[in-house]
Amino acid sequence: MKARVLSGIQPTGSPHIGNYLGALKNWAKIQYDYESIYCIVDLHAITVYQDPAELRSRILELAGMLLAIGIDPKHSSLVVQSSIPEHAELAWMLTCVTPVGWLERMTQYKAKVEALATASSEASIGDGMLQYPVLMAADILLYQAGIVPVGDDQRQHLELARDIAQRFNSLYNKEIFVMPETHLPTVGARIMGLDDPEKKMSKSTAGAAHAVSLLDPPAAIRKKIMRATTDSNPAVDYATMGAGVKNLLAIHQAFTGWDDAAMKQHFEGMRYGDLKKTVAESVVAAIEPIQQRYAEINAEPGYVARVLQEGAERVRPLARDTVEKVKQCMGLFTP
Ligand code: TYM
Repeated sequence: MKARVLSGIQPTGSPHIGNYLGALKNWAKIQYDYESIYCIVDLHAITVYQDPAELRSRILELAGMLLAIGIDPKHSSLVVQSSIPEHAELAWMLTCVTPVGWLERMTQYKAKVEALATASSEASIGDGMLQYPVLMAADILLYQAGIVPVGDDQRQHLELARDIAQRFNSLYNKEIFVMPETHLPTVGARIMGLDDPEKKMSKSTAGAAHAVSLLDPPAAIRKKIMRATTDSNPAVDYATMGAGVKNLLAIHQAFTGWDDAAMKQHFEGMRYGDLKKTVAESVVAAIEPIQQRYAEINAEPGYVARVLQEGAERVRPLARDTVEKVKQCMGLFTP
C-alpha cells in the first residue's frame, strides 16, 4: 500500500509564488508516488471573518488553480474541508486531549494576538484562532497521513500534530494515529516578501509590491520584481548579500532547479538590475503555462465542482473509518 500524503491551503487571498514554491509544486510532484489528498481548508479560513460571497468564489478559484498547477484528479483527491464533517468532528475529540498551554505557545497564534492588540480595534480573537492547529492536526490524522508537504511556516503546527497524536495514543493506550512527517522543499521553503525580506510572503499582507500572485499578468510580475528590496551593494556578492538578494536568488533557484554551483557561477557579481530581470523572466516562464491551464479549466463549466465532488466521495469512507475508531476508543456512543 502506498503511504498517504495530506496537505492543505486556505482559500484566503490569491495564492502566491511562496505558496507555490513552498508547497504546491511539491504536491504536484509527489502525487504520483503516494496516495494524495489535498484540502482547501475553508474551516480554517473562517477563523478570520470572510465575506461569504467572496469566500464561496475563492474556494472554486483555488480549486481551479490547484488543477492548473498540476494536481491530477486521477491521482489525487481534491477536497473542500467543510464538505467532510469528520474534520470538525475529529477536531473536537482532539481538542479534548490537547493542553491549552500547547496552543497558547504557538508562534502564529501569538503573532495574531499581538497584531490585534497593537491594531487597537474593537475586534477580539475568536476561539477558533486558538483551536486552529488542532483542526489542522485533525485534517492530517483523519486520513492517517504519513507525509505532509508544507512550507517552513507550518513546521511548528506539524510538531503539534505529532504531539497530539502521541498524547492520544498514549492516553488511550492504542496506536490509533500514524505519526505524520513534515516534508519541506530544499529550496523555497520560506519565500520572503519582495517589499520587506524580513517578513514571509503572505496572502494577507497588503501592499502592491509584497507578493507575486500566480494570477498576476507578466507585466505586473516584472514590475513587482524590478521594485523588490535589495541592499546597499550594487551587485550580487555571495559573502555579504542581504535578505532581499538571497530571496530573489532562492526564487530563481526554486523555479529553475539550478544547483548551488550553477547559481553562484551565473549570479556572482551580477548588477541588481540584471539580477531582477533574470529572476522576473524565470518566474514569468514558469507561471505563464499555469495561467493558460487555469483559463482552460475555467472555460469548462462544472468541471471544478465535479472534481471536488469526486474527491469528497473518495475520501469520505477513510474519514468515517477513523472517526468511528476514535469514538470507539474514547467510549463515545457508537450504535
Ligand atoms: P497557507 O494557506 O497559509 O499556505 C499554504 C501552503 O503554502 C506554504 N507557504 C509558504 N511557503 C513558502 N514561503 C512562503 N512565504 C509561504 N507562505 C505559505 C505554507 O507553508 C503551506 O504549506 N495552516 C495551513 C493550511 C492547513 C494545512 C492543514 C497544511 C490546514 N490544514 C493540514 C498541512 C496539513 C495554512 O494556513 O497554509
